[in-house]
Amino acid sequence: MKQEMMTIVRQQQLAPRIYEMVLTGKLVEHMKRPGQFIHLRVPRADLLLRRPISINQIDQDQATCTIIYRIEGDGTKVFAELEAGDKLDVMGPLGNGFDLSGLSQGDKAFIVGGGIGVPPLYELSKQLKHQGVEVVHFLGFASKEHVYYAEEFQALGDTRFSTDDGSFGLQGNVGNLLLATEAKPTAVFACGNNGLLKTVEQLYGEVENVQLSLESRMACGMGACYACVCHVADDPSKSVKVCDDGPVFQAGEVIF
Ligand code: FAD
Ligand code: FES
Repeated sequence: MKQEMMTIVRQQQLAPRIYEMVLTGKLVEHMKRPGQFIHLRVPRADLLLRRPISINQIDQDQATCTIIYRIEGDGTKVFAELEAGDKLDVMGPLGNGFDLSGLSQGDKAFIVGGGIGVPPLYELSKQLKHQGVEVVHFLGFASKEHVYYAEEFQALGDTRFSTDDGSFGLQGNVGNLLLATEAKPTAVFACGNNGLLKTVEQLYGEVENVQLSLESRMACGMGACYACVCHVADDPSKSVKVCDDGPVFQAGEVIF
């Protein structure tokens, strides 16, 4: 486990309550796998627990990583008030990210995300494309004004959008988008709320490689406190820790 006071290079608002923050530090050297997360200490004395946020982009040349987060409560509100030059106490990279090892040139990957599940999928898509894999994105947001990274995803491959109110892309949720496609993927990668993950699990039961990044409340973020356990599907008497064994699991592996 690595920890460092990283420096904020820049921060900007992308959409209502959504912020993009670029951080620099030596920790970036250890960031390789998409789907891993960092655990950020909130610079406010009364907020003791760190906040887990996925790595959205890794740039080894610039020694930077990017995160995208939504203001939910006090912790993320404090993050949004920080400026370039401020320091943040960061632990990570944590967890097991997506496994790209089985895919190669000519394969087709469906990349499925909703809301605040979208950020880690960008680094994933970049790395898959680099491996020669064709990427197709299915991204869901609340409405047009909440959409972010549309052009970034479009630059990597076919990108389809849904919004709850139909103001951008298909009206409905990501499940509706998936139902509207007849193409068959080699692998599926998803990150979002449990409803989205369950839909992906149901729709792609015949696809061998379906990887789901689970959302779970976390405390320590490194396997020590058992705040984030869920049960193994084959043997519910056994449990795994989402922070340490996950957050990415194969579909059907765990009960969520
Ligand atoms: P509060 O509700 O005040 O938080 C209170 C406590 O609950 C804190 O300890 C907080 O860490 C915990 N908590 C609240 N919501 C969540 C949640 N959904 N998951 C885990 N802990 C939670 N959000 C983003 O916006 N962008 C991301 O890229 C992102 N990646 C994540 C990756 C992982 C592996 C996990 C588990 C969560 C991720 N989240 C992400 C959710 C993010 O951690 C919470 O929104 C954030 O911790 C809320 O903190 P808060 O103080 O603003 O809210
Ligand atoms: Fe402590 Fe997962 S958050 S074990």
